[in-house]
Amino acid sequence: MRKYFVIGNPIDHTLSPILHNRWLKENNINATYDKKKIDKEDLQSIISEIKQKKIHGINVTVPFKKTVIPYLDKLSPEAERTQSVNTIILSNNTLVGHNTDISGFTKAINDLNFNIEGKKIFVLGAGGVVPSIIFALDRMNVGEIAISNRTRQKADDLKNQFKNIKIINWGNLPDFDVIINATSLGLNNETINLDFSNVVGKKLFYDVIYNPGLTNFLKIGKKLGNRSENGKLMFVYQALQAFKLWHGVEPKINIETLKLLEND
Ligand code: ATR
Repeated sequence: MRKYFVIGNPIDHTLSPILHNRWLKENNINATYDKKKIDKEDLQSIISEIKQKKIHGINVTVPFKKTVIPYLDKLSPEAERTQSVNTIILSNNTLVGHNTDISGFTKAINDLNFNIEGKKIFVLGAGGVVPSIIFALDRMNVGEIAISNRTRQKADDLKNQFKNIKIINWGNLPDFDVIINATSLGLNNETINLDFSNVVGKKLFYDVIYNPGLTNFLKIGKKLGNRSENGKLMFVYQALQAFKLWHGVEPKINIETLKLLEND
């Protein structure tokens, strides 16, 4: 029986096991997928279990997408550019780190039937998933990317990595067509301390969080008459890409798949 895990801290919110186990069953693959809450000190030993073939693949989530890198032998070009790994695979005895958040976000945006090319994008947050979002947005030829983070230094660090982004002081809102909440705020239903009441015109409010499905951020966007979308499809598509990397099969996404993830 092959064993797969998602590791992170916290890890309770993840719906990855539900999704992967469904796809494993649908494809008659004899494997299990579980979640594991770990501390930073456990990273090395759990990763080494992949090399020892006790574990066959790992998804990495908050806050280890960067800290896991020193324990790997090789990175995909996307993981290298973003310094962010969410999927680990053993290939020819080499531990390879991939980043499937990029394709997850790209496919999710493509599915929205929203023409993002040339648009002004405002990203809130500078955590683990933000480099992947910037990389994806760059490839989609958006017009402008502005970032704001409560802790300014982290936004400045991102600017060293991606020279074309603009940094906005936390609390200020620039002109934007799309606002992406990439903070962890919605996870525990906290409200974002930004004043959106002066935002005019129809915008796209996008939250990378998928659980809960309707964060306070999205509620505010909706109430003000904007389009609101959560990160559910991004999550499903990043999982699909990881599944393909591990099992060489493209799993199906249908209404039933999406229903599995409806828990609010
Ligand atoms: P990490 O920062 O370890 O990568 P993350 O969950 O990927 O973890 O990122 C959390 C993001 O949510 C950060 O941008 C964080 O802002 P700080 O860098 O200032 O910590 C943001 N965040 C979390 N709680 C927040 C709050 N109450 N208000 C504003 N931003 C918040």
